[in-house]
Amino acid sequence: MALSKAASESDASIHSTFASRYVRVCLPRFKMPENSIPKEAAYQIINDELMLDGNPRLNLASFVTTWMEPECDKLMMDAINKNYVDMDEYPVTTELQNRCVNMIANLFNAPLKDSEVAVGVGTVGSSEAIMLAGLAFKRRWQNKRRAAGLPIDKPNIVTGANVQVCWEKFARYFEVELKEVKLSDGYYVMDPEKAVEMVDENTICVAAILGSTLNGEFEDVKLLNDLLEAKNKETGWDTPIHVDAASGGFIAPFIYPELEWDFRLPLVKSINVSGHKYGLVYAGVGWVIWRSKEDLPEELIFHINYLGADQPTFTLNFSKGSSQIIAQYYQLIRLGFEGYKNIMENCQENAVILKNGIEKTGRFNIISKDIGVPLVAFSLKDNSIHNEFEISDMLRRFGWIVPAYTMPPDAQHVTVLRVVIREDFSRTLADRLVADIQKVLSELDAQPARASAKLNAANSEDGTQQMTRKKSALEMQMEVCSVWKKFVDERKLKTNGVC
Ligand SMILES: Cc1ncc(COP(=O)(O)O)c(C=O)c1O
Repeated sequence: MALSKAASESDASIHSTFASRYVRVCLPRFKMPENSIPKEAAYQIINDELMLDGNPRLNLASFVTTWMEPECDKLMMDAINKNYVDMDEYPVTTELQNRCVNMIANLFNAPLKDSEVAVGVGTVGSSEAIMLAGLAFKRRWQNKRRAAGLPIDKPNIVTGANVQVCWEKFARYFEVELKEVKLSDGYYVMDPEKAVEMVDENTICVAAILGSTLNGEFEDVKLLNDLLEAKNKETGWDTPIHVDAASGGFIAPFIYPELEWDFRLPLVKSINVSGHKYGLVYAGVGWVIWRSKEDLPEELIFHINYLGADQPTFTLNFSKGSSQIIAQYYQLIRLGFEGYKNIMENCQENAVILKNGIEKTGRFNIISKDIGVPLVAFSLKDNSIHNEFEISDMLRRFGWIVPAYTMPPDAQHVTVLRVVIREDFSRTLADRLVADIQKVLSELDAQPARASAKLNAANSEDGTQQMTRKKSALEMQMEVCSVWKKFVDERKLKTNGVC
């Protein structure tokens, strides 16, 4: 052949070894490699390692969207190189963001006149949205107190102990004390009465959750509003409410339109929602909407003269991708109210089917509620022999990712498994999951029996008395229980890490 030896040796693209010779060496982990490698090899190496990640579609731990229509995927890919912050260069993208803000504000019943522009902004997720809303409350409270000559060094925020970790982050990063209403057995959301009792003159806001991360339950924002209004009247304070509607903000307006939780309630001054949860966009978009201009202190808005135009910004970061904003607009106009309603109803129906299947096993208590985020949270009726963490671990073998976690104080003795129902979780998958849970239960039931059978066999061989054998089996069971208890205790810290 005409090919020279030198050419065939140097051209890695025709190397016959799988993914070229580069997979024969250890992959760089700490230092950037000295030399370049061919793009095909880089792709293959990274793609292969990523195969070991879980399958996002089977990740039932997350509220975050894992499926979108191919047309929207295309729009997102087409915009992958657009920096959102270059508003002057990409004015249409900015306009799409503004349209999303208006549509979401209207969905949340913001008191806007026809064609009045809403006050809000797209963020990276609910966490950033909550930081911004929290800062607005803190600043508003400080301004008022300063004007009245009162101290401003001890701001606090009242929430339920079931808040997602982003509230703890807000409190720590922005130096606000987090006053948490404790949960109790069978009551896993913030009790509005206890919350209002905890409010004092230093409370910058009470944060209610529409769709608790732990069991999907909606907190009673209407009752909170009414109790707080009475307290404000009595004390002369004007403590406001923020609603963390990370999940519920794109559920309640469609399937529970009568439920009053949003700007219909006068004390609700801001609301956050995750576009990437039931807003049906891939990870990377959230929204915060304020009731009116007065609720967003002007000093939090930066006006920067960048690339030749005045750009008002009130986000924590600067550069970010545009794709998620574009995708959110796509979903809003593609689905419309009708489409979102259909999808949320379907999710809710699938949640009921899964719940019924889980209940039928006779082994679980259902912790989630019929009205709330479409999810099923459940815990074993008896976890003295086997516990929820084992079920979670064993379901992994079938490909399912179902988290187990303990509830926050004072319900930390309750351990929960949670399955989030997203748009792409079909009825067939629900049936399949129930069947696999049943298999796991049978397998677990057999485990101590198998272990004690082994012990019995060993005892018979060396002729030990029946009485001794019974005692050993009991001891063994207690030992197993204490190992599980330790296992649960070690995992307690993770409770608020679920998203
Ligand atoms: C109630 C609640 N608030 C806030 C968040 C944080 O949202 P994000 O992941 O969009 O930052 C979550 C996440 O699951 C949540 O459930």
